[in-house]
Amino acid sequence: MWGGRFSASPAEIMEEINASIGFDKRLWRHDILASKAHVAMLAATGIVKPDEAEQIARGLDQIIAEIEGGKFAFSRKLEDIHLNVESRLAELIGPVAGKLHTARSRNDQVATDFRLYVRDEIEAIQAGLMGLQLALAKKALECAGAVMPGFTHLQTAQPITFGHHLLAYVEMLRRDRGRFGCATRRLNESPLGAAALAGTSFPIDRDMTAEALGFSRPAANSLDAVSDRDFALETLAAAAIAAMHLSRLAEEIVLWTSPQFGFARLSDAYSTGSSIMPQKRNPDAAELVRAKTGRIAGAFQALLMVMKGLPLAYAKDMQEDKEPLFDALDALKLGLAAMTGMVEDLTPDARAMKRAAARGHSTATDLADWLVRALGLPFREAHNVTGRIVALADEKGCDLKKLSLDDLKSVEKRITDDVYAVVDVASSVKSRTSYGGTAPANVRREARRWIKRLEKEAGSR
Ligand code: ARG
Repeated sequence: MWGGRFSASPAEIMEEINASIGFDKRLWRHDILASKAHVAMLAATGIVKPDEAEQIARGLDQIIAEIEGGKFAFSRKLEDIHLNVESRLAELIGPVAGKLHTARSRNDQVATDFRLYVRDEIEAIQAGLMGLQLALAKKALECAGAVMPGFTHLQTAQPITFGHHLLAYVEMLRRDRGRFGCATRRLNESPLGAAALAGTSFPIDRDMTAEALGFSRPAANSLDAVSDRDFALETLAAAAIAAMHLSRLAEEIVLWTSPQFGFARLSDAYSTGSSIMPQKRNPDAAELVRAKTGRIAGAFQALLMVMKGLPLAYAKDMQEDKEPLFDALDALKLGLAAMTGMVEDLTPDARAMKRAAARGHSTATDLADWLVRALGLPFREAHNVTGRIVALADEKGCDLKKLSLDDLKSVEKRITDDVYAVVDVASSVKSRTSYGGTAPANVRREARRWIKRLEKEAGSR
């Protein structure tokens, strides 16, 4: 492999620690794509002859067919995907294969391949995020008027609508899409032609290869081009944040589907049983989505640690960039698909949610607001009066709504029976029409807007 310089083969353990083919074989398509762009440029600039370039391109096409047909023998002795492809090319077309590696190095080659790979992965993740947004928005529209308790500190806070709750996740995913979009924009510079680290003396055309590979421009500094893995880090950071969002939703599904909450049900398709307790319906998929956040966030940390002490330019440490990223993005794609399935599958129990929403004096704020509006009390005083009414209800072991008018008047004599309308959970949510509020009318409008926008985007992809 290393030509004249080496006479003996590597130690077995050297081969084992050094080889990356076991995992970087998944870069094969991007590797060959980049090689084809490179050789076309070598021909266009007169660095290789047109017929040589043609032989090389044809050989590369044959290798694509072999790999697609499962007939390609990947070899650990050949270390990585780049040398595996190049060596097969030499078998197929002879010594002219050696001209492909003119004016490039595996350093710019792997940086190019990896960027192309990550760019495609981001594309798939964006589609997954959109799919989940659409599932959430559709469910939100169906459940726009379903009242549930809203929590802070996991204590009943104020009634909200289930649709509003789901749309909160649509917003999180909107930001995730933005982060992946920004990562793609910065990723999209071509390292190809940076060669080993210093550029090359051959009259290459880096704009041409950049354009052929869909990059917006060649990376401006050859050292930076081969030593930068920010694009992988940014992608993993965006993935970690997206995974955290999935995990929060997963956690809520675990809570909602528990017998203690009973807010929603997953069908048999998304539940598992217990081998010993026949009554159980476990939300395993939600738990696994929640758990995968650990490996996704861990991958970001792992790569950050690989990179943090490396002097410029390339170091073999950087070969460790791939496994965590592959694993993390696979996990994210799977998590998105599973979560989309679960959201579509989820059947809320509107009555159970509404019952829970009425418990815990969830409309106490509505009562306080009414005291401000109807009786002109300053809010702080209204808060105090309401607190005393809540204490009275607790003393009597009943909900706010069940207190008699006399009970209410014993705390504040100006209260009238108009108050009963505002302490009702349905009228509470209906009244919250401020921008971004939980009112069913707001939820319907927002959900429809999202569905329209997402369907349009899906259609134009
Ligand atoms: N397999 C290597 C990697 O993934 C390719 C680059 C090797 N470059 C080198 N100078 N040894 O990083």
